[in-house]
Amino acid sequence: MRVDLAERIRQRILEREARQLGRRLRTVEHSDGTHIVIAGRSLLSFASNDYLGLAQAPELSSALTAAIESWGVGATAAHLLGGHRQPHVDLEVEAAEWLGYERALLFSTGYAANLAVLSTLLEPGDLCVQDKLNHACLLDGARLSGALLKRYRHADTAHAASLLQAEPQAAALIASDAVFSMDGDIAPIAELADLAHAQRALLYLDDAHGVGVLGEQGRGSVAAAGLDSRHVPLLMVTLGKAIGSHGALVLGSNDLIDSLMQLARPYVFSTAMPPAVAAASLASIRLLRRESWRQERLQALIQQFQPAVSQLGFRLMPSRTAIQPILVGDEAEALRLSAGLEAAGLYVPAIRHPTVPKGQARLRVTLSAAHSDTDLARLIDALATLSESSVQT
Ligand SMILES: Cc1ncc(COP(=O)(O)O)c(C=O)c1O
Repeated sequence: MRVDLAERIRQRILEREARQLGRRLRTVEHSDGTHIVIAGRSLLSFASNDYLGLAQAPELSSALTAAIESWGVGATAAHLLGGHRQPHVDLEVEAAEWLGYERALLFSTGYAANLAVLSTLLEPGDLCVQDKLNHACLLDGARLSGALLKRYRHADTAHAASLLQAEPQAAALIASDAVFSMDGDIAPIAELADLAHAQRALLYLDDAHGVGVLGEQGRGSVAAAGLDSRHVPLLMVTLGKAIGSHGALVLGSNDLIDSLMQLARPYVFSTAMPPAVAAASLASIRLLRRESWRQERLQALIQQFQPAVSQLGFRLMPSRTAIQPILVGDEAEALRLSAGLEAAGLYVPAIRHPTVPKGQARLRVTLSAAHSDTDLARLIDALATLSESSVQT
């Protein structure tokens, strides 16, 4: 008898619930930077990717409002069919200059950008070598391409080298998160660049969580490592995290970017992002190029957070970025800690499988330049209370 698809997926959800892996949507009824309201309760959030506190900055809102007056809301069409508006171009041109690449191409999301790059450049018979902890959309892009996907142990360049050496004839691409989204650590970018050079492979980095936060003028992980477009010929940065807006840019040589514009299906067959959103992203980039105090403030918070939380007996991960996860392990314990923090008025979601490997559940604490010293003290006090209650039980 034919399998009932609706019933099959219902069973899958029930199994996940039984393993404490069910998800629920929470509606944020109001947001005021780091303070959000959920179910009528004000919570101090340590969960946002708005690492510099730019999402509600007046400079971005006024750029957005001014562009809406000129351009309206929707882009009305795909880029190649009349949707490519001046604010898109202005953003691409300034971002390419800022990050030191010949050309940039704007996508509506980072997810679409990664699908586009990998599914366009790679084809069956090629090899795609990826870090085990890469973001889901890098893996999905490689799968979509039909290339052979091989994953190396986290940050293990020697393992990546052996995977490449095993397929010496195949055209090859190495893809890695630059900052790992659930761990906060930084990829061995210089080693990957050397490996790519030695193996005649193309290096593609996803700097979703490094751009804005790391490097001079917020240029991101590549600049922070003292490298540039010669070492990392293809780069993706998202605009919906530290930049405080929405969308993503892929940066590379004129030829590579032109090929994506011609061939990448998520680019060709999708409505362009609202021009006003591109204008807000540009305003944000200009702001963070001019003012470095947000990056400095964020680093100061990280320096305060790490020793205080380690002293409480919690296990932090080796991260110098805004992502400061507390490794818990057990899924139910992670949920318990998250609920305990929420009872104290703090929003820090538990991250569980499949977002992280089984048995590595964690509290993904993210810090923002918008957090005050008092905000941080509240988090540390609440964690202290929870650690005392774990010792007693
Ligand atoms: C490393 C990484 N790449 C890509 C994305 C996708 O970007 P976007 O949210 O713009 O789709 C994310 C989002 O969480 C991410 O963490």
